[in-house]
Formats: sequence, structure tokens, C-alpha cells
Amino acid sequence: MGGGHQLDEHITIDVLAGDRDPEAERQELRRLLSDRPRQIPSHYFYDGTGSSLFDRITRLPEYYLTRTEAAILERNAARIVRRSGAHELVELGSGTSTKTRILLDAMAEAGTLQRYLPFDVSEPVVRDAIAALAARYPELGIHAVVGDFFLHLDQIPDRIQPGNRRLVLLIGSTIGNFEAPEATALIRRIAQTMQTGDSFLLGVDLVKDESVLHAAYNDTEGITARFNLNVLDVLNFRFGGDFSTCLFEHRAFYDRARERIEMRLVALRDQRVRLTGLDLELEIEAGEEILTEISCKYRREVVVDLLSAGGFELTDWLTDDDRLFGLALARRS
Ligand code: SAH
Ligand code: AVI
Repeated sequence: MGGGHQLDEHITIDVLAGDRDPEAERQELRRLLSDRPRQIPSHYFYDGTGSSLFDRITRLPEYYLTRTEAAILERNAARIVRRSGAHELVELGSGTSTKTRILLDAMAEAGTLQRYLPFDVSEPVVRDAIAALAARYPELGIHAVVGDFFLHLDQIPDRIQPGNRRLVLLIGSTIGNFEAPEATALIRRIAQTMQTGDSFLLGVDLVKDESVLHAAYNDTEGITARFNLNVLDVLNFRFGGDFSTCLFEHRAFYDRARERIEMRLVALRDQRVRLTGLDLELEIEAGEEILTEISCKYRREVVVDLLSAGGFELTDWLTDDDRLFGLALARRS
């Protein structure tokens, strides 16, 4: 399914997410839900509701990540754009493309901006994002891809001109949502989409005081809890499930040894859940936990190693005064 869809003179969207082999997806989910601890891959968070809840999370007082990263970008945008010499901005896990505007503005200011290529698994969020960007940058060429990092990176469109340099973004700490082997595999796949002379900007949340991390994933308004519980509704809708969100509770804690937050859903009582689309019945006991997300916190040296596994060399390490968040600018070596 899918294929390119020209929305207007400047905007194209390729919807590839449906290219996933449905039986392979069902099999993987059956395995993960039957495993111990049971697991739900975190990309299922991002239906329309989940993406809106994430957008609210980014504006919560406790969730320092987004505003800190935005401030680092504001401070360094001109430098990043100058160092990269890019004409095309590719953004992986682009979401609402809000912080992107800082870089788009800096590229426009430098007179190099030709095209923006957002890539995200969530179709509603991509459609809203490109509509908002088209209103703000009426002349900008936008070619969006709705796809999965692990299936569709090779389908990012070619450069408009072969010599065009690209700046590829994976910001917002999205890399933190993957286990180390997956993160390495993702960085390698990203490198394969790039040419010598292209630049890569990776945004990572840094190891810090545990109470700051705990608060960021346990906000007092309960938006993170709603974001976490919404994944059960996504499975209900996608796979004919009958999870009751009121029979689960949000839990997020910092694992000091592994330097990561884990988000889980705790069953409040014994229950049987059916997912007809998966041909699966689960007997879940009171107190059992379903792992829904990991959010790894980084140190500079781990980032350097991760980048070098993909053949990248760190050129600039940008952070805020409190060292809450890091942006690594790298080049293919
Ligand atoms: N970059 C934005 C959004 C971060 S949220 C920011 O900094 O605020 C993470 C984004 O990655 C979401 O929009 C989600 O839909 C997308 N995403 C998660 N898993 C993905 C996958 N496997 N493939 C493609 N996109 C994915
Ligand atoms: C998208 N990702 C980087 C967020 C994070 O912080 O790991 C998702 C999130 N989960 C809970 N709050 C935000």
C-alpha cells in the first residue's frame, strides 16, 4: 500500500507504515505480550491521541527535556547550520516538528534552505505538522515519509540535486527509547542513508539527579500516566482487544544501574484479556507489570561510542549550563 501523494505544488507525503507485514507484526506482539515481563513496543504509543498527549508532556513543568533542547538549539542553530552547510533537513521521529523551526529559520537566514524531509511512524502527527509548516514557510519544499525506522529508512527520497548536503536530525531523546543493540542498529541504518559531508545531530537526555528524572515521568497532572495507559486503547483498536485502562496503573522509575527510566503498566487485579486480532488470550495476575517504554539517559562517552559504531565522528558537543540535555553534532568519518 502507500505511495507518494502530492498535496500541493510544494508538499508530498509517502505513507509507508502500512507496508509492515501484518502477520510478522502480530507474531512479534503475541511473543512480547506473552513474555515475562510482558512488553508493548513503544511505537504503539503514537496514535492521534498518544501524539497529542506527548505534545502536552513536552510542555509540562516537570518535563525539562523539550525546553532545554530547544534552548540549546536556539543558542547554537547558526553554528550547526554553518558547520553542516546543509540544503536539506531530514528529521527522524519528527513529531510536531516544533523545535525544527529553530533550524529551518537558521537555514533560511543562511540562504541554504531548500527542502525539509520529516519521517515519522505517526500519520496524523505528520499531516498536522506539515500543514503548520506550509503555512509558515509557503515556499519550502516538504517531502514527508510516514514510516518505521527499522523498515523504511531506505525509502527516504533522494536529494533534489545530487551535491546537496543534508543535516539529519534524531532529536528529542528518541534514541533513548531503544535498547543498546537497537540503538546501535538504528545509528548504522541512519549512516547508510547519508553521504560523506552530511551531518548528523543527535539529541540525548543526560544522566542526572534521580529526583529530577523521576518527576519528569511522574508529572502531577497525570498526563504521562494517560500517555502510558493510552497504549492499551491503541492495542484494543488495532487488534480487537478488551483491555480496561481502569484496571491498570502507570508506574515509572529510574533504574540507577542501567541509567534508564522504565515505564510500566501495573495490573490492579487478576484479569483475562482477549485480543481477537492476535488470536490471543492473556491471564494477567494482580501486580503483574507490562513494560511499555525504556528511556535511556546518556553520558558523553557513551554517545561518542554509539556514534562511532555508525562511522560518525563527534564534531561538537552542545549542552545547557546545568548539563541536563546534550546535542551531538557529528560527521560521517
Ligand atoms: N522529535 C520530536 C518528537 C519526539 S517523540 C521531539 O523532539 O519532540 C518520538 C517520535 O518518534 C514520535 O513522533 C513517534 O511517532 C516517532 N517514532 C517512535 N517510534 C518510531 C519508529 N519506530 N519509527 C518512526 N518513528 C517513530
Ligand atoms: C519520545 N521520548 C523521547 C519520550 C521520553 O522521554 O523517553 C517519551 C516519553 N515517555 C514519557 N514521557 C515522555
